[in-house]
Amino acid sequence: MNISSTHADNKILAIINGLTNLWNNRAKVLEGDPSVDLTFEPEKADFKAELLPFYKHPLWQNAPADLQQKVLSYGWIIYNEKTIQIESKLIAPVCDLLIDGEYPGSVKDEIQHAISQALVDEAFHTLMAVKGINIVYRERHLPRVKLPKFQLISCLELMLEECQNEFEQKLVRLAVACASETLITDYLGSLSQDPMLQPLCYKTVEAHAADEWSHASVFSYTMAEIFSQLSEQEKALYLATLPKAVQAFGDDELNVWEVVLAAINFPDYANMLADCRERNAQNINVDIQGIAKLLNSLGIEVSTENLAA
Ligand SMILES: [Fe+2]
Ligand SMILES: [Fe+2]
Repeated sequence: MNISSTHADNKILAIINGLTNLWNNRAKVLEGDPSVDLTFEPEKADFKAELLPFYKHPLWQNAPADLQQKVLSYGWIIYNEKTIQIESKLIAPVCDLLIDGEYPGSVKDEIQHAISQALVDEAFHTLMAVKGINIVYRERHLPRVKLPKFQLISCLELMLEECQNEFEQKLVRLAVACASETLITDYLGSLSQDPMLQPLCYKTVEAHAADEWSHASVFSYTMAEIFSQLSEQEKALYLATLPKAVQAFGDDELNVWEVVLAAINFPDYANMLADCRERNAQNINVDIQGIAKLLNSLGIEVSTENLAA
């Protein structure tokens, strides 16, 4: 039984309700685990070399092919570990807060239904990521590496420490979660639809990306509903958090790579990463498009030219 919106005069809630009614036909969890029907193809790469932060470095480019293959497998593992941390430490806690009505305007049937569905999707994405990691470790006979905390999570923790009270912390969590939910489709899009890659890798990413197309809208409209009910001070905190969240989301996670490259004895890895850090320090890359996308989703129209100016 499809449910009609209980707030007929509210266009945002009507749209959220429409998205909820699509879930039974679009949710990938309802199609089952894609890894079950896939065969591992050892000759194919597990990750795209262009996505490595040291892709253009001569030490990487001149590394032997078998070592490159190994690094690409860890690229896939890092990518999925990051997905798990985003889902479990960032998105799921915010979904719980939204469902509990901890934000002004979030105690609405429409929001609770849509966010509960998103929470189910996110648990499924964690399952796909866990399986993706374990299959690659097993098939490639790689040593397990315990990865450190990712920059996005460290950045979130730092921002939470700077808050004055519990509600500010909830708002910061919400801003970082909404930034991630809006930016994750581009992040996933860079790996999906590439048949040159390991089928396990691009097919699970494709399934994840399909769900996230919908989440980007669900979270944007939910945020728009909440944003209009925040005080001016709360709005200011929310807006100030967005660029930091966008920046942290796009971090190339060199600290995580350092642990991996050390564990597999990649020759001269410390110098390679030092060069990458120096390059990053010289051209601080702010994702202006990402920030514009988030502001536009709140009904705050800005062009990327204005932000860059
Ligand atoms: Fe997800
Ligand atoms: Fe999501």
